[in-house]
Amino acid sequence: MDIMDEANLKTKVFDSLSVPTLILKPNKIIVDANARFLERFRVSKAQVVGKTCHDFFYHLREPCPHETCALARTLEDRQGHSAVKIVATGEGEEKWDNRVFSPIVDETGEVRYVVECIHDMTPVKTLERELSDAREFTQKIILSSTCAMIAADRKGRILMMNPAAEELTGYSLKEARGKVTAEDLYPPGEAKKVMKILRDERIGGKGKLNCTRISMVNARGEDVPVELSAAIIYEGDKEVGTMSVFNDLREKLQHEKQMEQMLLRIARAEKMASLGQLAAGVAHEINNPLTGIIFFSKLVLDTLEKDDPRRENLAAIFEDAKRCGKIVTNLLAYSRQANPGTEVLHIHTLLEHSLNLIRDRKAFMHIRVVKELSREMMLIRGDRDQLSQVIVNLVMNALDAMDRRGTLTLRTFRDKSAKKACLEVSDTGGGIPADKLSVIFDPFFTTKKPGKGTGLGLSTAQKIVTENGGNIRVKETGRSGTTFLVEFPLFVTADEDHAGRCEPS
Ligand SMILES: Nc1ncnc2c1ncn2[C@@H]1O[C@H](COP(=O)(O)OP(=O)(O)OP(=O)(O)O)[C@@H](O)[C@H]1O
Ligand SMILES: [Mg+2]
Repeated sequence: MDIMDEANLKTKVFDSLSVPTLILKPNKIIVDANARFLERFRVSKAQVVGKTCHDFFYHLREPCPHETCALARTLEDRQGHSAVKIVATGEGEEKWDNRVFSPIVDETGEVRYVVECIHDMTPVKTLERELSDAREFTQKIILSSTCAMIAADRKGRILMMNPAAEELTGYSLKEARGKVTAEDLYPPGEAKKVMKILRDERIGGKGKLNCTRISMVNARGEDVPVELSAAIIYEGDKEVGTMSVFNDLREKLQHEKQMEQMLLRIARAEKMASLGQLAAGVAHEINNPLTGIIFFSKLVLDTLEKDDPRRENLAAIFEDAKRCGKIVTNLLAYSRQANPGTEVLHIHTLLEHSLNLIRDRKAFMHIRVVKELSREMMLIRGDRDQLSQVIVNLVMNALDAMDRRGTLTLRTFRDKSAKKACLEVSDTGGGIPADKLSVIFDPFFTTKKPGKGTGLGLSTAQKIVTENGGNIRVKETGRSGTTFLVEFPLFVTADEDHAGRCEPS
């Protein structure tokens, strides 16, 4: 091969390299660029050769700082060096180049030239970035998930817990790592059962467990009902750990319980309503004969001598018949159709009228009656007799609760913002037990001795109040007494236009 051929071959080899390549002098001036380089950077040889590399790549007059320049290091130690650099393509895109510098050393050991090969790292870097973005995203999902997620290694040692898991278990990840094992998170023996099911191909597939209700044990040793989904993490065929997702069921179970109770109450109320209808029908039928029994027994009683031996039995008939009469009256009141909104009434007048209706004056003998009445107009619309019955029922209940000894407070006020006229009946009795609060408005619920109460007072009152557009509830109850609150839509006259709530003045 002659000299000419040798030079041609070198040029051909240089140009046929699939990697963009430059040849630089130690003074960083580019002396040659191969065809792949010109193609990649879309330049002619004349645009490259003669320029320094910092000028060509970064349009800098001065060389790049020594610590970031791999060429400088190559010149220094005569070894190959590389550096990954970001280059703008001129089309708004960025490319990642791995620039590898290799020295060409002469026989004296001096670096005469440096070959720079440029490897495009963009696909790798893009993948890396996508992977890291995906990882970050997954991390964010795990961190923000409301499901508690716990990863453990093959031996059940906790490796990862998200904040929801920390809250559910009561352990922080720091505490759990190394100290807590998956077994500690379940009642004794339960973790082993879970692993057995996980490995069983017939249940949810091998290495998987779908939504199962189970108890877990938190840091305070309390059992927490949860829904568990879990999976074994495999590397090839080898088990390397588990991933478990827990959903706290406490709130859900609470709602389910409330819903169950509500359905029971509805069923009970329906049963009571039809029972009420039946009872009312019977009461209606026996009302007439009962009136006869009361009337005639009294009549005969009045004609008997004081020492007549029959007197005692007849008096018992008379008293019992009167008690039956009371029951009948209550039943009829409960089943009576309301006729709301007939009159405009002042609550205070209604209150006085109702108190006068309580004929048993002895009932008030040891009762201190306190009236805290609003000075404002307290007008409501309704049926006077029905509304009086509500007040009578509440007052009678209050007197019974106090065993006829204590303070009865009657309080009225306006809730102008809600346009309500409010009446409170408070007693100093023993209160209503918490477990009875949900049933006191049920028809026939009574805690009074047989023959003393029919359990229709509050149900009748509630029926009347709601039919008159109002609301009745226990405002507070406890050992020092009970307060019932009745609210009616306030009847506001045209010239009244105040706002705000007025407490009794
Ligand atoms: N002020 C109160 N303090 C304590 N318990 C009360 C009070 N008011 C009502 N209760 C409880 O609610 C139950 C139901 O009351 P309700 O007025 O419906 O029936 P009753 O008073 O038992 O019988 P009736 O009113 O038909 O004569 C009462 O038996 C009592 O247990
Ligand atoms: Mg009552």
